[in-house]
Amino acid sequence: MAAEPNRRDFLGASGRLAAGSAAIATFPHPAVRTGDDAKAPANDKVTLALIGCGGMGRYDLADFLRAPEVQIAAVCDVDDSHSAAAAESVERARGKKPSTTRDYRAVLDEKSIDAVIVATPDHWHAIPFIHACLAGKDVYCEKPVSHNVREGRAMVNAARREKRVSQIGTQQRSGEHFQKAARLVQDGKLGRVSLTRTWNFSNEAPDGLGKPADEDHAPAGVDYDRWLGPAPLRKFNRMRFHGSFRWFFDYAAGMIGDWNVHLQDIVHMAMGVTAPRSVSASGGKFAIDDLRDTPDTLLVSYEFDSPSGPFVQMYEMRKGNGRGIGGDAGHGIQFHGTDATLYLDRGGFQVYPEGARTAEIKSGSSDQHWPHVQNFLACLKSRARCTSDIEIGHTSTVVCHLGNIALKVGRKIYWDAANERITDKSGRVDDEANVLLGREYRRGFELPNVDATAPKN
Ligand SMILES: NC(=O)c1ccc[n+]([C@@H]2O[C@H](COP(=O)([O-])OP(=O)(O)OC[C@H]3O[C@@H](n4cnc5c(N)ncnc54)[C@H](O)[C@@H]3O)[C@@H](O)[C@H]2O)c1
Repeated sequence: MAAEPNRRDFLGASGRLAAGSAAIATFPHPAVRTGDDAKAPANDKVTLALIGCGGMGRYDLADFLRAPEVQIAAVCDVDDSHSAAAAESVERARGKKPSTTRDYRAVLDEKSIDAVIVATPDHWHAIPFIHACLAGKDVYCEKPVSHNVREGRAMVNAARREKRVSQIGTQQRSGEHFQKAARLVQDGKLGRVSLTRTWNFSNEAPDGLGKPADEDHAPAGVDYDRWLGPAPLRKFNRMRFHGSFRWFFDYAAGMIGDWNVHLQDIVHMAMGVTAPRSVSASGGKFAIDDLRDTPDTLLVSYEFDSPSGPFVQMYEMRKGNGRGIGGDAGHGIQFHGTDATLYLDRGGFQVYPEGARTAEIKSGSSDQHWPHVQNFLACLKSRARCTSDIEIGHTSTVVCHLGNIALKVGRKIYWDAANERITDKSGRVDDEANVLLGREYRRGFELPNVDATAPKN
């Protein structure tokens, strides 16, 4: 038997959120602010809470705890063992245990909390992010921003309307060597860049994640119904759960959303772009035989117009062969210019001149996550926009979602960025493709309807 849904619990004793039945519904929250209190924390201390205490949540937590001004008042997870582990690490670092809860809304009701870290699976980013903004909290949210394009725009609207500071976990942007490499591209050191390339390679053949059977119950201490949240109700399966949720479209966007969002983000930063003109994709599940429904082989080609002219960005992903491009790295970025090629990854970068037209330049690695966290903490005080503000994170995530949409519809699609809709080449709206910009929300877990222009209530 499937784990019993426990939505009443999610909705709270009053059932106050039960009304929404449409795909998009207004989702009120008791802590919605009414005054103009979009201001910095009142004193030098900043009080945070962690929502989602799995692998990345605890990694984020460790760096936040490096900052002496940070105190962690609460940790929240639908798996009690994960919140307990996070609470212990806070106690080890600060000598005081934070409160623990399964319901992020209890965290948002806590007035002393200035900001939250959202490190839940991708399908659970948008709703707590938006509720956090509505409750007057600033947000550090993991990448990719959203499960789908519509969610990301609603998140931008919420942050802007409520004047909240946001930082998305595309931390490469804060890495000094990534910034240096971007400046080389912008300063013309590579000549005219007409093609960029990003990739992720590994070899998981032949069985990948395997094919474990569905189970009648989730492990003890897990609120599985709340883990599923907006996604369709289904029996528990370990492969669709902690960590490996990212390989299933119900919860995430596969490898392109999980990893290319980091790489694509750097292409955007260096080339000065935010949206492609067109997208085409080929791929499928060709190399590994397991439960996942996202591709193990993928090639996406994007056409962009940049300030220095048009270029093509190509994303290549293989999970059945791990051989790298121009080296052995399983991931990377290349910028191909008329004067040189720049090869860039988390370990450093190198410029390979075309003949004698430019100098060979090399750089080692630089820290990325810690400066990203520090940037967020500084912006909490200054109220400036972060290095990876929600709008930046949204546009880098959209491009990944569009790769999946082009693959699903099996044709070249054209992106009308101003209206965030897909058209054909002549500008006619592509209804079939546009459906894939959103999702069906399970009753009780609808996306809050946030209109940036609507008056605050
Ligand atoms: N910035 C990076 O480099 C980086 C690296 C890894 C992962 N991530 C991102 O971090 C996020 C989490 O990934 P992960 O690998 O840590 O996954 P994970 O499965 O290890 O952790 C997710 C946690 O969220 C909890 N959770 C699920 N629904 C919840 C809810 N409604 N309320 C509270 N907690 C809930 C889960 O129980 C789990 O403990 C993903 O979006 C992922 O893409 C970012």
